[in-house]
Amino acid sequence: MQAMEHPKQVAILRELMRQLDEKRNVDAGVMYKTPTSVYSCPDVAAKEWEVLFRDHPQIIGLSADLAEPGAFVTCDDFGIPVLGTRDESGRFRAFLNACRHRGVRVANEQRGESRRFVCPFHNWTYSSEGELVGIPQQDHFGDVDKSCRGLIELPAVERYGLLVVHPRVGGTIDVDELLGDLAPEFDSWKFGEGLVYQGETVIKKRLNWKLANDTFGETYHFQKLHRDTLGQIFYGDVLHYETFGRNHRFVIATKAIDSMRDQPEENWDLLRGTSPLYFLFPNIQFAFSLGNVNLIKIYPDPDDPSSSITRVTHYLTTEMLELVQSSNGEVRRIDADNLYESRSFDDLEYGAPVAFDPSALFETFDSTIEKEDYVVGESAQRAADNGTLGHIVFGRNEPALHHYHSAFRDALGMPPLEEFHGGD
Ligand code: FES
Ligand SMILES: [Fe+2]
Repeated sequence: MQAMEHPKQVAILRELMRQLDEKRNVDAGVMYKTPTSVYSCPDVAAKEWEVLFRDHPQIIGLSADLAEPGAFVTCDDFGIPVLGTRDESGRFRAFLNACRHRGVRVANEQRGESRRFVCPFHNWTYSSEGELVGIPQQDHFGDVDKSCRGLIELPAVERYGLLVVHPRVGGTIDVDELLGDLAPEFDSWKFGEGLVYQGETVIKKRLNWKLANDTFGETYHFQKLHRDTLGQIFYGDVLHYETFGRNHRFVIATKAIDSMRDQPEENWDLLRGTSPLYFLFPNIQFAFSLGNVNLIKIYPDPDDPSSSITRVTHYLTTEMLELVQSSNGEVRRIDADNLYESRSFDDLEYGAPVAFDPSALFETFDSTIEKEDYVVGESAQRAADNGTLGHIVFGRNEPALHHYHSAFRDALGMPPLEEFHGGD
């Protein structure tokens, strides 16, 4: 992982330090409200499924998910069974995961390595390039031109380390357009190189997919809901926030930011004092910090507006992996306290390398989402389902929620969010 331009890093760090010094959070200068029906209405759910998932490019993973030719992933989260492969030439390809005989899935595992996909029904066999390469007892079956019965190919692009698929044959993918002004910044981080897949956690909960997204949208709750977990590591009520089309960058300060204050500015490093998070419209939260990346994909349940599925995928940089491996088992167990210690600027920049246990870091990350954020999300879902509450409000310190809800309404052709003036 390389880095965004240094003056930008310094500007973000300065702004976060200013907010900390002045005890002021980010301020959008306006409040908004949204009807709770956006979280429960079947018509809204049907429309967003169609517009934002069935007919919208989908980020299905990172380049690291397909490390070598022959690697594959499958996904079924946006209404179409997809098989993604890295073909013999190293190119990312995507196919409809459906046999051209009678439609059965040809790859059934979530991920793996295989240059051949054998349909379990009658063993028709396909290559990583999607070609039909074998039909058992073809003399019994009949004359089939194999070159016409390869897997149906879907548009697929790999760019800036993102694997993007369009769920519709003939659909177009323009990653630069999807990222907008964020594209050069994504490019600068080099997420396409030096990351290694570490595991995935799947969280199925009774909350609308937008309520799930909302939990990633402010730091106002850090010192309340997460007081004993993330709140030990991160400052609450400070945020550097910037929008890029329908996407945004959301940078939160770790307590290690303080040790940077004594250092000359040219040594400042964004990842030693913050964790940036990119939201990529409509459903991706891309969170990273020193040595690791977490890709969070949030999908509606197409049969139930009140449910969603979240996939959290973890990656480590090769440097961090080496550091962990070279520690010969003397890996320091991470908990809230020594996570802070092991991430401190002094340790990492000027002292001996500090090893830590990434699986514990990931566990903390996942359980905070599942056991804290999504628990309150499920609670809010019950109120939305009931309808009596009518609407909820987004404060001046919650600009990411303003932007996300405005973007989603705009994409669906809904009227803009209404301002909230403090009364009804
Ligand atoms: S359905 Fe795949 S081989 Fe028959
Ligand atoms: Fe949270």
